Amino acid sequence: MNLSIPPIINYQTGKIDAENVITKIATLSSLEGVFADEVKHIENVQDRVIYQVEMLPAQQAEGELNFGVSHIEPGLVGNEFHMTRGHIHQRKEQAEFYFGSQGEGLLLMQTEQGDVSIEKVFPGSIHHIPGFVAHRLINTGDTRLSALAVWPAIAGHNYEFLKEVGFKVRVLKSAMGYKIVSTNEVYKHSGQV
Ligand SMILES: [Fe+2]
Repeated sequence: MNLSIPPIINYQTGKIDAENVITKIATLSSLEGVFADEVKHIENVQDRVIYQVEMLPAQQAEGELNFGVSHIEPGLVGNEFHMTRGHIHQRKEQAEFYFGSQGEGLLLMQTEQGDVSIEKVFPGSIHHIPGFVAHRLINTGDTRLSALAVWPAIAGHNYEFLKEVGFKVRVLKSAMGYKIVSTNEVYKHSGQV
């Protein structure tokens, strides 16, 4: 019999405790074209971490699954909340599960037809992201937002979606906390076309 200790997740922090954890860090300067306020982006001398992803070693085989956690730091770029780049899967039909772990935020989902749906993310929330749906996490709170994710190894990530189609809405800070605004509106107000 072979008894071993598996990887461990801290459900409060979403931190993975395991050998060979892979960590990818996304700084503001690496996220060109993501936030509406590109002027702020370029002028931001002090680069900073917007989010990081921890994951167990990536599986490749058809039928396999991957496990990871996204940690989005609290903050704003202009008046827009920190968020992930967002993607649709390279194999678009592949679905995914997210699980809220800490903090509060939103999961933005958008079908290929451009239909947007938004779910609140909080500790204990479960999110089924169907196939053919682009997805992005947004931290609307003032503490770190962490969400666990399980996705098929063959799903892949298509970030070109952002340039080709893009998300139809943006989440901005408001007196009430946050407001969801059409991307076209944001550009109109900031003088961009
Ligand atoms: Fe995904």
